[in-house]
Amino acid sequence: MNALEHSTVSEIAATYPDSYRIFHKYGIDFCCGGKRKLSDVCAEKSIEPRAVLGDIAALAATADNTTDWQKKPLAELVEHIISTHHAFLRQELPRLHALCAKVARRHGEDHPYLLQVFEEYCIMSEELRQHIEKEENILFPVIVALGRGGAAALDISCPIEMMEHEHEETGAHLEKISALTHGYKMDDSYMCASFKALYTGLADLENDIKLHIHKENNILFPRALALLGR
Ligand SMILES: [Fe+2]
Ligand SMILES: [Fe+2]
Repeated sequence: MNALEHSTVSEIAATYPDSYRIFHKYGIDFCCGGKRKLSDVCAEKSIEPRAVLGDIAALAATADNTTDWQKKPLAELVEHIISTHHAFLRQELPRLHALCAKVARRHGEDHPYLLQVFEEYCIMSEELRQHIEKEENILFPVIVALGRGGAAALDISCPIEMMEHEHEETGAHLEKISALTHGYKMDDSYMCASFKALYTGLADLENDIKLHIHKENNILFPRALALLGR
């Protein structure tokens, strides 16, 4: 396990299906910024890489019901991403938009950063809406066909690069929203129920998006490119 110290975070996340939970615990970016060596990321954060790898090994030893997406057919992984993560976005993005608008309207005067949160959220939400449409209509059908042994109807390396770039943009929006809200820190002295519900919703959204991007960047895209010998 310790030999993995010099592997990238993405490689470890792809090999150990539950490792994202440990990366999350240590504040290690496992989705957009995952292409860096664990040893480098740990040095930057003053974390002992062996502690991280030890936690991953312990979790792997106890996990018994995790789906290993490295081994499932690509069509199944694509279907899972659409029915779980894209469905979540389609449900949550409009709900949080309304909630964010309401909280910004009510509390924006006393807490002007809420107006920035709303602005950032609107841009991210629209980008994500278009992003999942592109994946479902253009990229995913080609990956499914490839996974079933068919020929690629188009060169998927460019669309994959584009999707990865868009993931980075989403990651930057999430980082900004998290910084503006001090990591969704609750304060009972001035927060109403809607205010708190917004923070809970945004934190849940961030967690789901990170897991979603991890499955695409670290598992789906590398597996699809490997079928093309890339
Ligand atoms: Fe997606
Ligand atoms: Fe995506």
